[in-house]
Amino acid sequence: MPVGILLVGGFGTRLMPLTKHTPKPMLTVAGLPVTEHQLAMARKAGITKVVLATSYLSELFTPYFGDGARWGMQLLYAVEEQPLGTGGAIANAAQLLTDNDESIVVFNGDVLSSHNLSEQIRQHEFHEADLTLHLTSVKDARAYGCVPTDSDGKVTAFLEKMENPITNTINAGCYVFNPKVIKSIPLHTVISVERETFPTLVKERGNVFGFLDNSYWLDIGTPNALLKGSRDLVTGIADASALETAKVSHRDRQSLIMETAKVDATAIIDEGSCIGAGAVIGAGAHISGSIIDSGAIIGQSATVRNSFIASQAIVGQNAQISAAFVTKDEILTIPA
Ligand code: GTP
Repeated sequence: MPVGILLVGGFGTRLMPLTKHTPKPMLTVAGLPVTEHQLAMARKAGITKVVLATSYLSELFTPYFGDGARWGMQLLYAVEEQPLGTGGAIANAAQLLTDNDESIVVFNGDVLSSHNLSEQIRQHEFHEADLTLHLTSVKDARAYGCVPTDSDGKVTAFLEKMENPITNTINAGCYVFNPKVIKSIPLHTVISVERETFPTLVKERGNVFGFLDNSYWLDIGTPNALLKGSRDLVTGIADASALETAKVSHRDRQSLIMETAKVDATAIIDEGSCIGAGAVIGAGAHISGSIIDSGAIIGQSATVRNSFIASQAIVGQNAQISAAFVTKDEILTIPA
């Protein structure tokens, strides 16, 4: 059985101030932390043992996820005193995985993906590859490093961002490793797999394959993407397997309401909004395309559109909030 490593130690600077007290992978989308949606996808592909590679605000993961038994999984925690970059984090976390020959599947902790992970793993093992990367096609690859492959699916290069990309296939942030490749990454060293390990492996003619799958895929690292990811899970565009075992009181394609939330019968919740556990939505309020996190309070007749209302934040009666992050302490407009 393959085992997993989830990279959850980044600073999430693009999502400040939401990430001031909550690491990006613990932010709520569709009523649950991003990480919980990812674990459900791992579980679906038969992965039950996962190391969370933590650093920034590492102490916030264990109280929620514990030993993983609630999800029928075994979760372990690796902590980096100082962030070691993606490569250093993988090398550090892999020390907790002693099942020597198993493939190791590494997930960037800020991606929602409905790709066929079981098939990615199957192809990796069929090719006896060193590394098999999930690739996805984007319309405009200028913002990404691109990853060309040959007719056999072998990766031929790792290219930096460029004005005229030679291919629109990009690294989608889910990698199946032969464990011996991870053993070659130096320990206690800051290193990036994207900038160092992968390009070197390709240059040295390692057996590196691309697994192209254009199913739903989203990097939730920016404010608008975070909101979109949540809406897509609620409306069913993205695979929301994690919700099957979650405590949900109501779900349709317009709205998701978690158990213990109190929503007044006259409130309107639509456009893929989610209302977290213990949140309170007052009479006549209208919530559209938004995330209302656990314990937040929305006053009577308030309107909240395309916004993230953080845990325990309060939106007053008749307030009109649009494209904003609202925390207990501040309101920040989300740039278009
Ligand atoms: P920004 O600061 O907004 O760029 O976000 P980020 O650094 O948190 O995320 P980025 O997209 O750069 O990283 C991709 C994934 O790798 C995210 O899930 C991060 O949590 C994770 N990550 C990045 N750097 C580290 C690290 O040094 N250690 C660990 N454990 N995880 C990391």
